[in-house]
Amino acid sequence: MESVWKKEVPPFAHGQEGALPRRTEVAIVGGGLVGVLTALYLKENGIDSVVLEAGEAPGVGQSGRTTGKITCQHGLKYAALIRDKGESAARTWASACQGAIHAYEGIVGRLGLSCDLEMLPALLYTQKNDGALEREASAARRCGIAAELRRRTDLPFDVSLALSYPRQAQLQPYKFLLGVASRVRVFCGVRVTAIKGRHLLTEEGDEIEAQRVVLACHYPIGLLPSTVFTRLWQSTSYVLALGGVRPLAGMYYGIDRDGLSLRSHGSTLLLTGMSHRTGEEHPPAFEALEGRAREYFPEGHVVTRWAAQDCMSEDGLPLVGPASPLTPHHYIATGFSKWGMTGAMLAAQMIAGDIVGAPHFAAPLCSPARFTLSRLRATARQVGETARGWGRRLFEVPAELSHELAPGEGEIALSGGIKVAHSRDEQGEEHILRPYCTHMGCQVNYNPDTLSWDCPCHGSRFSEEGKVLDAPATKPLSKKPTAQGDTP
Ligand code: FES
Repeated sequence: MESVWKKEVPPFAHGQEGALPRRTEVAIVGGGLVGVLTALYLKENGIDSVVLEAGEAPGVGQSGRTTGKITCQHGLKYAALIRDKGESAARTWASACQGAIHAYEGIVGRLGLSCDLEMLPALLYTQKNDGALEREASAARRCGIAAELRRRTDLPFDVSLALSYPRQAQLQPYKFLLGVASRVRVFCGVRVTAIKGRHLLTEEGDEIEAQRVVLACHYPIGLLPSTVFTRLWQSTSYVLALGGVRPLAGMYYGIDRDGLSLRSHGSTLLLTGMSHRTGEEHPPAFEALEGRAREYFPEGHVVTRWAAQDCMSEDGLPLVGPASPLTPHHYIATGFSKWGMTGAMLAAQMIAGDIVGAPHFAAPLCSPARFTLSRLRATARQVGETARGWGRRLFEVPAELSHELAPGEGEIALSGGIKVAHSRDEQGEEHILRPYCTHMGCQVNYNPDTLSWDCPCHGSRFSEEGKVLDAPATKPLSKKPTAQGDTP
């Protein structure tokens, strides 16, 4: 389940050794793209920071699972932005995203990074023709993008129409990330467990005092009180890496319901799709992707496969900036809504810009304090999903536990009158856990594609042993099941 990127890169050898500093100007929680880029911009402006990464190396979270596309083309974006926020806001967003592409080029050049950066067109495509691409083309042009409609592509299947955005970029994200991380101060294996004002506490019992704290950890945790979980939901997507495939001349994104995202990396093709709300039951995703791969690329062979998690925001724009007006020294960066490469660069520019007193021109668009009607809708939906998750916990009565699970299967079952999460791992070992998410108590679901227990409420994920794989939960699933009315 490891991404193709990590397999190509030797272990990170630039982590800071020795004791954590007691004080720093900026503490950055999370060593993914947002974290290391923010640290780089701060360093270039003479500001001291430390990056605290819980994993064994930077980028072990979502940044190592991205497809590495850097574009101002984010699906059907600009017609909706003009409708919801006005043309001026949409133009600002287009310009900020194009600026993010230039920023990647600038950093690669400045630091002399070898990370397979290529400038290519990014194309939307459809196999229907309902006018959506024509409307998007017109909206994109109003926003200053030289978008061009095409009837032909080099995809191995027919499309009815494609919309090409010129001079976008792709790179090997993990090479880029580690190249930047080696220029800043990163402490690996440091898990922040609590943030109290300007003090960060770690699992090891260390304490760091920081003038400012940046939560660059995918889903912001540790901030209380926080309502961010009422505004975000998570989506799981599946990526298949196929070897031996002729490189495509562009990056592609299908706008139809079953559309695929495609990009080449040399003779390796990344095929992404089958997205669903994290924790929802779904048809076998890798099996479906492999079927599409056999149909379109019969010459290819599967090199590896993995799943990615994305935080989706209420209006499709990231949440970046001070977490609340009461805590201007706590910054969050989340909700990149599947376009994390561009979003991470913008987030780093916005947060570093705010800290050094040079605000980014698009920062107001991404402010966590913004209020929109879609925020009300998102909050209502999240409350509904949490109620549904609790409803399943309280009222769903599963069958008695079966010992006949095959490796890679899981079930919610009754054992001695108590609900349990029961699975058998690929080595054949059985696991029994308490099936209630440690974030807010919703009942989890087994995902046979990722061999994990996923929460449908806000997207926390747990391994078959109960370990936290993805926030907002921070505590593992208990190995001691108890009655379902108990608190999480
Ligand atoms: Fe919130 Fe599970 S992620 S209850």
